[in-house]
Amino acid sequence: GAAELGPYRHYMQKEIFEQPRAIADTLEGVQAIVPELFGDTAFKVFQEIDSVLVLACGTSYYSGCAAKYWLEGIAKIPTQVEIASEYRYRESVPNPRTLVVTISQSGETADTLAALRHARSLGMEHTLTICNVSTSAMVRECKLAYITRAGAEIGVASTKAFTTQLAGLFLLTLSLAETKGRLTETQAAEHLQAMRHLPAALSAVLALEPQVIGWAEQFANKENALFLGRGLHYPIAMEGALKLKEITYIHAEAYAAGELKHGPLALVTSSMPVVTVAPNDALLEKLKSNMQEVRARGGVLYVLADADTRIESEDGINVIRMPEHYGPLSPLLHVVPLQLLAYHTACARGTDVDKPRNLAKSVTVE
Ligand code: G6P
Repeated sequence: GAAELGPYRHYMQKEIFEQPRAIADTLEGVQAIVPELFGDTAFKVFQEIDSVLVLACGTSYYSGCAAKYWLEGIAKIPTQVEIASEYRYRESVPNPRTLVVTISQSGETADTLAALRHARSLGMEHTLTICNVSTSAMVRECKLAYITRAGAEIGVASTKAFTTQLAGLFLLTLSLAETKGRLTETQAAEHLQAMRHLPAALSAVLALEPQVIGWAEQFANKENALFLGRGLHYPIAMEGALKLKEITYIHAEAYAAGELKHGPLALVTSSMPVVTVAPNDALLEKLKSNMQEVRARGGVLYVLADADTRIESEDGINVIRMPEHYGPLSPLLHVVPLQLLAYHTACARGTDVDKPRNLAKSVTVE
């Protein structure tokens, strides 16, 4: 009801703004990076496994896609991320030493549960879930679990569940790295400290809302949008495009920026906004030349630039500057303006933000 919404117009907006609290709660009680965060038997399981297979749907699938970069980059563990509805019906090569990780807000998604059962039927017994509902089937059926503390999510388009999943997946990465001897105590302490700063960092990003509203006014009358990212932020571009599709009904597609020249560049005109996620990482210079490719075709860029990237607003380039650069945790921050962009564009178009047409919050049938 209205009381629960407080100052917010919709549950989605409220849930976007709850993210600092949701992350703080999700990390509450984490004193150190230890496998036991995931269950009493986690240490033994983490020692035994040699790879990770992530299974999920929708937004949860995109958090898995981001985690792959962490799991391979930090923990050095070969990682596969698969859409649950594909995996369950595909002939695959099972590896009993794989850690099967399901990611689910509800813990009741039929395809994800079926994919988990399929993996188990193939002899993969090491199962772990990152889940927001402690009493769910997913938690019951997995050996290990990390319960995110996003709290009830009502808006169909997932927001705070996504960022808390990322927090859980980052902890999983660190715990696996620690078990495998790939993380020093100093590094673990530094990562943990960065995680503890996330609520404050998220609040600073939420303060960018007025600037995002300015963008949303320009998106409201568009019918197509392209989202670009690279590396760890490619899944963030995918999640940004999904949010826009779900609640504004604007056709949106995400591309890894380096792939632009292999097809989507043909779509670029001045009437298709190109959102670019531009963290200050090793790929920044590459990304800048991708942006030039867009500008050269008259495309209009909307860039989420990190504090220290020196990308400036100019004709055809609209920049929102992120308050700080956040290293490996950057996806948790860059996704927030994209959530707000979808939200405010939907408001401007007058769509039913919390209950978009044809979609359900939890898909418990196939
Ligand atoms: C539905 C929801 C999405 C969600 C997906 C997976 O499609 O509309 O927001 O990401 O299911 O749900 P889960 O509960 O498994 O994360």
